[in-house]
Amino acid sequence: MAKILAIGIATLDIINTVGSFPVEDDEVRALSQQQSRGGNATNTLSILSQLGHDCAWAGVLIDEPDSQVIKHDLTKHQIDSSNCVVLDQGKMPTSYITLNQQTGSRTIVHHRDCPEFSFTEFKKINLQQYDWIHFEGRNIADTSRMIEYCKQQQPNLPCSVEIEKPRPDIDSLFTLADVLFFSKNYAQSLGFSNAASFLSSFAISINASCAWGEKGAWFINKKMKIIHSPAFPPEKIVDTLGAGDTFNAAFIHALLNQQAEQAALKFACQVAAYKCGRHGLDITYFKLN
Ligand code: FRU
Repeated sequence: MAKILAIGIATLDIINTVGSFPVEDDEVRALSQQQSRGGNATNTLSILSQLGHDCAWAGVLIDEPDSQVIKHDLTKHQIDSSNCVVLDQGKMPTSYITLNQQTGSRTIVHHRDCPEFSFTEFKKINLQQYDWIHFEGRNIADTSRMIEYCKQQQPNLPCSVEIEKPRPDIDSLFTLADVLFFSKNYAQSLGFSNAASFLSSFAISINASCAWGEKGAWFINKKMKIIHSPAFPPEKIVDTLGAGDTFNAAFIHALLNQQAEQAALKFACQVAAYKCGRHGLDITYFKLN
């Protein structure tokens, strides 16, 4: 078991499951509705906690009614939120999600009225106690200072960074992280149509993965070696919400367990696929075949 800290967001996810994706200006009825805690960093922690780790989240919590669902889920997964900033103004970030029952796709409209977790707050955390720190690639200027600070204070503490969306200066984080998790969406935003050509386009040496849905995932290491794992598609894809966050968690878990890169990549694909075969982020019954 490792002690893992993640910096990023928690959200309220309002998930409408629909029989098919609506066309613009249509009015459709949801088959069901569910509210749950989401947010990339906390999704990743909830999986890591189920894989047996001791997890802590540092981010911003707004003291308002919608934070109850979030706090309840953090408590359920024993995720320590004592490093969080708690504010009484604003709104918990909220995602309105259309989950298409036919394909498992999740279309997200995200609303945010909440400040980012700052470097000033980050410096208050006692980093000594952690074995791994995971960051969301957001709030770039402050995140960059946080990773630099980690490297000064705890040079041996591994730092991973998720690069999900293109954001100004996000590439400034690439050389700072020990492991980078790129999304397909990010690679595509730069014009790449496959993960291998994206990962081999870097002039700097990095450890980085890029998952590509049903094509599986790729990883490049600092010796520029690229490896691939196929996907392990479930019988039916029912819910892809948080699949990337699950992949990242499983990969971190495998690396913490000293698994080789190829085995870690395979494990991450397996856990992410398992997640896509069922609703939500409960991996209690995940078993390796
Ligand atoms: C899934 C997710 C959702 C959240 C959204 C935030 O990766 O974390 O739970 O609403 O993305 O961008």
